Amino acid sequence: MTDTQNAILRVGENEYPCPLLTGTENETAFDIRKLRAESGLISFDDGFGNTGSCESAITYIDGDAGILRYRGYPIEQLAEKSSFLESSYLVLYGELPTADQLERFRRRVQENAAIHTAMEHHFDGFPSHSNPMAVLSAMLNSLGCYYPEMASNRREEDLERFDEAAAMLLSKVRTIAAMTYRMKMGKPFTFPRRDLNYCQNFLHMMFSDPYHEYEDTAGLAEALDLFFLLHADHEQNCSTTTVRMVGSGHANLFASVSAGVCALWGPLHGGANQAVIEMLEEIHDSGDDGSRFIEDAKNGKARLMGFGHRVYKNYDPRARILGKAAERVLAAIGDANDPLLAIARNLEKSALEDEYFIERKLYPNVDFYSGLILTAAGIPVEFFTTMFAIGRMPGWMAHWKENASDPKARIHRPRQIYQGANQRDYLPIDQR
Ligand code: SDX
Repeated sequence: MTDTQNAILRVGENEYPCPLLTGTENETAFDIRKLRAESGLISFDDGFGNTGSCESAITYIDGDAGILRYRGYPIEQLAEKSSFLESSYLVLYGELPTADQLERFRRRVQENAAIHTAMEHHFDGFPSHSNPMAVLSAMLNSLGCYYPEMASNRREEDLERFDEAAAMLLSKVRTIAAMTYRMKMGKPFTFPRRDLNYCQNFLHMMFSDPYHEYEDTAGLAEALDLFFLLHADHEQNCSTTTVRMVGSGHANLFASVSAGVCALWGPLHGGANQAVIEMLEEIHDSGDDGSRFIEDAKNGKARLMGFGHRVYKNYDPRARILGKAAERVLAAIGDANDPLLAIARNLEKSALEDEYFIERKLYPNVDFYSGLILTAAGIPVEFFTTMFAIGRMPGWMAHWKENASDPKARIHRPRQIYQGANQRDYLPIDQR
């Protein structure tokens, strides 16, 4: 029941007004912040699928229409006209930078490319089979030890140093990923170069050797830039909500994004891009063209990784852009007939025509094609989720800052409905 300003919650004989909260895109919520105090009741929404945890001005998604905007700018326009660094500035600070602002930001990121030499020894302690996400989370948190002045856990101080910390994390997340690859390959670390842009430097740190300079002959740095840009933010997904949760306790930025890396790791979230390639390879190796796999997905025997989304009940706009980019990149490396791309296109076509997927509004998501681009760039599959983390770093940091800057922000502490044993008395062990 709603009147112009309030929803009314009726429980038995009692009525409780719930103010309505409406956003700039006319999404409307029941504001239940006073519900428990006034009624003793709480809401229940496991997985938070119907619950707004905050007000945010960073990213807008309309899942039904397949709309994604960073600070009001459509992802399609940013993908065509912007760069990862420029979009990172936009996500972090809310406005597209002037040329001067972008140059200052670029320089600050560039100057932070190398890590403290003492941190190189951390890699000696990781086994070569370590998962890159475990290394990344540990190393990002360790950064706070080397720059304690930016990781004080005193809100005002951490906010004052945010610009430096953000540029440092945006730059070093890429360096740490590359160093992890070199460690796992048993190769010496490659120092960053000052004459290369963000993605060129990443590929250089990954693939250049003391005796051989990596050459990006297929324009892969450009494809990676688009990949990172498309991953820069996605409102209250699992990992970003984790960053806000950890930051809400006034934990510093380094600890908060380190927690975000762990939340991203799972195959239902950021780990899906790796799971997609493994799925495509499994289908290819089995001689199936995808038809059998679709049937398995429909009867619950398999999950079509890279398909489906909690919010998008339409085509994920990022998947559409990445699908075209994958075709361009594969053609550029002379692999236009990559069998995995053909299987992916066949899976997509079959799924989009199949009642099971149509009924459940299951469409390709950001992870469905992204792995083909990363494979073409020579990135090992086990680094795919790490690549997602690099792209998502600006979003995580923007959300940490948005929460930290809100004077009304409180520590995140959901309630629960207890379903355990009622009170009972302790039994001595000889009576159990
Ligand atoms: C990301 O939140 C974000 O914004 C995330 C992200 C970001 O940018 O941060 O967009 C990045 O994480 C994208 C999603 C990557 N994950 C995957 O691709 C894994 C495969 N997808 C699914 O596991 C699933 O679709 C989720 C996890 C993405 C969404 O899960 P939901 O919303 O909890 O949906 P659900 O599991 O309740 O499924 C609803 C129905 C079920 O069938 P029924 O019980 O109704 O019969 O759809 C089915 C599911 O079985 N279903 C699938 C399916 N996804 C859902 N069936 C087959 N294959 C799938 N992929």
